[in-house]
Amino acid sequence: MGNLIAKIVSTGAYLPEKILSNKDLESMVDTSDEWITTRTGIKTRHIAESTQSTSDLGVLAAKKALERSGLKKEEIQAIIVATITPDMLFPSTACFIQKKLGLMHIPCMDISAACTGYIYALILASQLIKSSAFKNILVIAAEKMSAITDWQDRSTCVRFGDGAGAAVVSSQRGDMEIGEFFIGADARFTDILNIPAGGSFCPATEDTVKKRLHYIKMTGQEVFKNAVRYMYESAEKVLKKSGLRVEEIDCLLPHQANIRIISAVAKRLNIKEENIYLNVQKCGNMSAASSSVGLDSILSEKKDVKNILMVAFGAGLTYGALILKRINREK
Ligand code: UT7
Repeated sequence: MGNLIAKIVSTGAYLPEKILSNKDLESMVDTSDEWITTRTGIKTRHIAESTQSTSDLGVLAAKKALERSGLKKEEIQAIIVATITPDMLFPSTACFIQKKLGLMHIPCMDISAACTGYIYALILASQLIKSSAFKNILVIAAEKMSAITDWQDRSTCVRFGDGAGAAVVSSQRGDMEIGEFFIGADARFTDILNIPAGGSFCPATEDTVKKRLHYIKMTGQEVFKNAVRYMYESAEKVLKKSGLRVEEIDCLLPHQANIRIISAVAKRLNIKEENIYLNVQKCGNMSAASSSVGLDSILSEKKDVKNILMVAFGAGLTYGALILKRINREK
């Protein structure tokens, strides 16, 4: 029991078809392709249909991961979903996904850790597996950021996109071990990135809607500074814990908020540019889904990748890092 290893068996991802370019945004708010590109690195982002909810995006990613896992759906014993754009405040988005996938009677839960959500969720799944409570868990990070974005606010609307990624985590199969991790949160900063209204603190009223308080509010520069600091510190801590040298990391998978944040963190860590995974240019910031979509691309495209260092930060502020290590293929 103490020797169980939690591994990623398979992954899947889904990006909505519709693409919103910087040029498109120029006709919506007072911005320019040049400003968005130089300040964030973003060129395009995917936007879900109005009829698609977060669970729909999650289901499309999960179906691919399940198909590739070779497991029967009855073998999945729990669903964990990382999201800050749930279908409803309750029930959990994981419950909606259970229904749509027809995975009846297994436990379902959501994790609200914003952009660090996928790292939190993978760690939770790995610990549940290592405790031998479960054998196979479906982990999803799905976000419909377009639903909580104020399309009249140029300081935020140019940044976000929609998408979903999923992984099957198991003690039985797989060759990518969920290894050492470090997670934390600095709740002194709950007010620099949030949605002020619509929860129990400030329930939605006509007035809150008029004041657009049901959309994302962000103090960009404060978030930026803390993002660099906490991503770097989290990565350093997890490297130390794992005993891996930075040269042994052949892929850095950072949260994709801003290319300038990623460059600053990579530079401080001394990670070569060619070893950094990026999707921010094409997908914008998809919150927790940035990492889940990223992990799916890495594992599908870079078959020889050995050690992946995931690192993220998000509203809360939450932060964390996780090492994924290739182990000898089993049966
Ligand atoms: O997943 C976590 C999510 N959040 C983040 O990671 C955010 C981290 N922060 C950032 O990425 C950056 O702070 C931003 C990209 C949000 C902003 O970049 P910045 O270099 O910090 O710009 P700023 O907020 O200091 O704004 C500079 C100027 C301002 O004009 P003034 O006051 O100097 O005249 C803004 O009004 O740029 C203006 N501005 C824009 N101009 C054109 C803000 N948004 C836009 C825009 N287009 N979209």
